[in-house]
Amino acid sequence: MEVREAIKSRRSIGRVRSDPVPKETVEEILESAIHAPNHKVTEPWRFHVFTGKGRGEFARARAELARILGESENEEEEYIAGRVSRERKKAFRAPVVIVVISEGGRDGVETLENYAACAAAVQNMQLTAHALGLAAIWRTGSAAYHPYMREFFGLKENGRIVAYLYLGYPDVGERPRKRQPASSKTIWHEG
Ligand SMILES: Cc1cc2nc3c(=O)[nH]c(=O)nc-3n(C[C@H](O)[C@H](O)[C@H](O)COP(=O)(O)O)c2cc1C
Repeated sequence: MEVREAIKSRRSIGRVRSDPVPKETVEEILESAIHAPNHKVTEPWRFHVFTGKGRGEFARARAELARILGESENEEEEYIAGRVSRERKKAFRAPVVIVVISEGGRDGVETLENYAACAAAVQNMQLTAHALGLAAIWRTGSAAYHPYMREFFGLKENGRIVAYLYLGYPDVGERPRKRQPASSKTIWHEG
């Protein structure tokens, strides 16, 4: 698929089939990530790939986070149990979940730019997935920012969970995209 066509036709798709994705395909998607631009060639990306039964580890972490959040909000035990169950299921929404982590830098600017590089890496992955006929959705939410998940993934200071990228074969058709035209966001400075 031509790159401009891929950029325009890619959509975030959360509804995917449960069919497994070949490991080589996942590797190709990971390979595309590491070609993203990164200032000072810090190569700040780290990945965790959860597939098959391996998603159980991710499910347990999400469930534990749901419990921590429920208890901190003084919820009833019955309500917490429901929340835990829903969170656990989220790990199985797609056959593959790739967690993209950005390493902290040597100073604030490097940390910021490492995160930017990882965001570019995630878009490379989304476009590659799309070109390979896969659906992808970049998700975050409290599971990306809570200290419990930071600890689960062994993040060092200033490291960040950039994305939970859910991948699978699409279960829905194409959707139109609504965007304001670039011209409405642009100020030209011309000679
Ligand atoms: C940093 C970031 C976090 C996101 N987190 C979520 C999320 O938690 N849940 C979700 O449904 N979509 C999430 N998305 C995907 C956006 O909802 C999606 O890109 C947006 O709706 C535009 O749709 P499109 O990607 O098809 O153009 C996230 C996107 C980005 C860039």
